[in-house]
Amino acid sequence: MTARPVPLFDLGAQHAEIETQVSEAVARVMARQDFVRGPEVEGFEKLLADYCGAGHGVACGSGTDALLLSLMAEGIGPGDRVICPAFSFFSTASVVKRLGAEIVFADLDPKTLCVGAEQVESALGRDGPAAALIAVHLFGASAPMDELLDLSRKDGMTLIEDAAQAIDARDDSGQPVGTRGDYGCFSFYPTKNLGAYGDGGIILTNDPERSERLRRLRDHGEGPAGEHPLLGINSRLDGMQAAILSVKLRHLPRWTNLRQTHAATYNKCLDDLGAGVGAGRFEALDLPVRRPLSPVAPARHVYHHYVVRVPAEHRDSLRTYLTAAQIGTGLYYPVPLHLQPSLAGQGAPLKLPVAEAAAKECLALPVHPSLSTEQVHYVVDEIRSYFAG
Ligand SMILES: Cc1ncc(COP(=O)(O)O)c(C=O)c1O
Repeated sequence: MTARPVPLFDLGAQHAEIETQVSEAVARVMARQDFVRGPEVEGFEKLLADYCGAGHGVACGSGTDALLLSLMAEGIGPGDRVICPAFSFFSTASVVKRLGAEIVFADLDPKTLCVGAEQVESALGRDGPAAALIAVHLFGASAPMDELLDLSRKDGMTLIEDAAQAIDARDDSGQPVGTRGDYGCFSFYPTKNLGAYGDGGIILTNDPERSERLRRLRDHGEGPAGEHPLLGINSRLDGMQAAILSVKLRHLPRWTNLRQTHAATYNKCLDDLGAGVGAGRFEALDLPVRRPLSPVAPARHVYHHYVVRVPAEHRDSLRTYLTAAQIGTGLYYPVPLHLQPSLAGQGAPLKLPVAEAAAKECLALPVHPSLSTEQVHYVVDEIRSYFAG
């Protein structure tokens, strides 16, 4: 295989690998005409909940709806405050505002780019108590769950895990992400580590009452006798997506492994060139690049994105250089959430320096399972040659 091009994602290569199994699964749904609800969806909910070790799985239309439904199930609305990291995908926070509640933005731990108890406490100190906390397992690495669980219990906050990027990841105590908070929200957006052939999402919970409420809310709030005691929405995973996801779930452990192997190769190559790790200054480094921290077992990073940090003044020109070398890269996220025009509060903009620096320095490199080791070497070599001038 030639090294280039190196796309950021390669869904075509993944499809080619599993085409026959996917076609059979889709044909089965067509033959039975179980397009909405039905055994494929129920079967997949159970498969995924068992895979992650959670009591219940409630599938829905997207990861965004998984977050929205979790907030709805807690009755979050006007007058409530919800803590959200300032550095994540837009919908981590937009769902809060959509329900008329107030977003309380928290800055990040500079080393991990996740929000920990220290950052939550400082946001609470600034803005007062909150009804819920959304913890994001950014890029496929777990947020510090032990301390976030302690804090949310102490302060009576509902803990919602945004695990959209982190299926198969484990936290510091080795537990699967999305299973220890009150709700664990996952996305099956096509480029996710477990991606559907369209939109999809699921909420995991260990609480049967919450699970029941979520089931009703995703289906117009309908009760057993056709009455609608809850004001729900229409957000259901369809049968074809459930059938495809059930096929893909069988391959997930191998795909996770390949992502981890590519990340280890990047780490080794970057370390050999004198790059740094985590957060900090770039000046003393032989290669002015900082690679992600390696997880300490039993924690497990699933590398939805492999994100390096480079000096802000080089980030966009490095990206242009890599594009010219046929290497796909991504910016997650160029604008922190507290500065998004549709999310920012009234008055002077909040200053959250860690999130603001991350937005200028982060660059995602290709790490998908269909990549070759030769391609990883090629990417690092092009980064080296950019800085060699
Ligand atoms: C961290 C995070 N939260 C939420 C979402 C929303 O998921 P979806 O695109 O399935 O609505 C995504 C996906 O893009 C995400 O990365």
